[in-house]
Amino acid sequence: MANPNPTNASVTLDPRGQGPDVPWHLKESRAPVFDEVTVLSDQLEVKGSIPPELNGRYIRNTANPQTGWTEHWFIGDGMLHGIELQNGKATWYRNRYVRTPQYDNPGVDRLELALDKETFTFDHSVSAANTHIVGHGGRILALEEGSFPYEVTPDLATVGPHTFDGVLTGPFTAHPKFCPDTGEMLGFGYAQVEPYLTYYRVSKSGEMVQRTPISVTGPTMMHDMAATRDHAIFMDLPAIFDFELAMKGGMPIRWSDDYPARFGVMPREGADADVQWFDVKPGYCFHTLNAVDEGDETVVYGMRVPEIWRDSSAMEMNETPDPESSPRLHEWRFNRATGAVSERYLDDESGEFPRIPASKQGHDFRYGYSLGITGAGNDTSGMGGAVFKYDLANGASKEIHAFPAGHEPGESVFVPAENGTSEDDGYLMTYVWKPETDTSYLVILDASNIKADPIAEIHIPRRVVSGFHSSWVPDNR
Ligand SMILES: [Fe+2]
Repeated sequence: MANPNPTNASVTLDPRGQGPDVPWHLKESRAPVFDEVTVLSDQLEVKGSIPPELNGRYIRNTANPQTGWTEHWFIGDGMLHGIELQNGKATWYRNRYVRTPQYDNPGVDRLELALDKETFTFDHSVSAANTHIVGHGGRILALEEGSFPYEVTPDLATVGPHTFDGVLTGPFTAHPKFCPDTGEMLGFGYAQVEPYLTYYRVSKSGEMVQRTPISVTGPTMMHDMAATRDHAIFMDLPAIFDFELAMKGGMPIRWSDDYPARFGVMPREGADADVQWFDVKPGYCFHTLNAVDEGDETVVYGMRVPEIWRDSSAMEMNETPDPESSPRLHEWRFNRATGAVSERYLDDESGEFPRIPASKQGHDFRYGYSLGITGAGNDTSGMGGAVFKYDLANGASKEIHAFPAGHEPGESVFVPAENGTSEDDGYLMTYVWKPETDTSYLVILDASNIKADPIAEIHIPRRVVSGFHSSWVPDNR
């Protein structure tokens, strides 16, 4: 077969990525695209009208293996898909790989690229850079939790690895938290060797001002954290690095019945000795929604599952998943004065990719948003067919925007209205895959009335791969 990827001449397609046995994470909305394109406004069909106050870029990061094959959904080469909006018009759509050593060496084992066998040190610029995209300190960073961040331009060209002037020497999370009061970015990195966890605090202007090792039980996979106005919160949960799995290649994480499940609450500028640990029911949380301090209590909201990856990190997509074992909105309450813990589910239906308005990070908040999964809306894929809006002031009751049957939205991002007066005055934006044409569109919903028809849809004449996390990067970032 001719090389379908003109952007990297050294790529050879892996036959395992083709044919009827292609695994779920590489087909339909997840099937990789092999070329980088720029589509200008005359080729972008707009339905409705784009609010002229939205000036910036909506960007999604995705796993898109150049060879057509990966063992696991989480390890494909990072590809960014962006749409720029200016003065009520969509000026372009483009997709670009993040240029990393992994991109430059398609199909080569990551350990082979990263490990220096003489010094037994790792090169953390070896990254898939495929998980999230955030703006901070005037930079746009593509993130993946095993590596350094990668800076990209507003046009999605790669600048290179970003180490905060060399202060960062290990992995950096894909899920930092941004304080709306100080402008700080709080983050962490986890590792398979000690220190297993390191906490980072980055100033508004992008200078790393704190780097603090935190004692956790062992090599836990910590995908996300939480933050209130005064506390950073760490999740030390029983999904851990497994050396034997690592030797087999792929994702080296599995469940452990012997490893404790606990949350650590630390003053934001604190040290390891200041962390107060709270035991919780065994479970896992890929993503937190928000956290707030209420008197002596620190409250964390997130999507909990009772267990992940018992024997290996293999993932199956079940079109009729069991709600009991699917991620659902959960509340953990930690009393810092008494040490008491209480926890409960807030919803019976499954959701993932939870988001809040950036201005509500760590603050009292009322509304949260997620991708509705288990048969939500018109979902027939197991990938989600709806956007949920939770009302935390109302028992986490929710409103639903259901997309047409088969259409697959992703993580939706809240963008505040320019002169908004209430918390939900603003827009929800997400890419949606349309199976009948194998193309995608960016949808803009009214966050204050999500059941309503979309305010606008911007149709792209090709597939935006279903992926992970997204951000709106405004012009005045
Ligand atoms: Fe994530």
